[in-house]
Amino acid sequence: MRRIPLFVSALVGLAAAVTAPVAHAQNAAAGAAMFKQQCQMCHVNTAGAKGFAAPNLWGVVGRQAGSTAFAYSTALKNSGKTWDPKTLDTFLTAPGKLVPGTRMVVAIPDAKKRADVIAYLKTLH
Ligand code: HEC
Repeated sequence: MRRIPLFVSALVGLAAAVTAPVAHAQNAAAGAAMFKQQCQMCHVNTAGAKGFAAPNLWGVVGRQAGSTAFAYSTALKNSGKTWDPKTLDTFLTAPGKLVPGTRMVVAIPDAKKRADVIAYLKTLH
């Protein structure tokens, strides 16, 4: 019985693959899967949720770094950065390089995977 939903989602994936304008959606879908594997153990991602291990990433694209109710490191809080696709890309390449002293330590070395995860973060608003 579990095969049916799998088959359906494969079909949906195939439909997405042949419909050109959904390139962004595809990135975001890959990014969502990555988020589950590599970010969600620390980060929450829904409006109003309180992050205990890490800040809520709902609405992160476009906001100032260190600006939610989370108890940030002073390094991130005082970084003066604004999260846009470019700063996020640099941050996720090597968090401690963009913001020395940050407690965020998870890096994504692969540029394509970073782009996917950033495409997903853009959907969180
Ligand atoms: C081990 C826990 C952990 C994991 C896993 C993790 N993070 Fe973080 N992240 C943190 C912490 C803690 C902070 C706050 C850092 C600080 O205060 O310096 C943070 C901060 C951030 C920020 C800045 C948020 C803000 O409000 O300024 C972004 C963006 C971010 N993480 C993205 C990600 C992404 C994307 C992933 C998955 C690839 C990820 N993180 C995985 C712990 C984690």
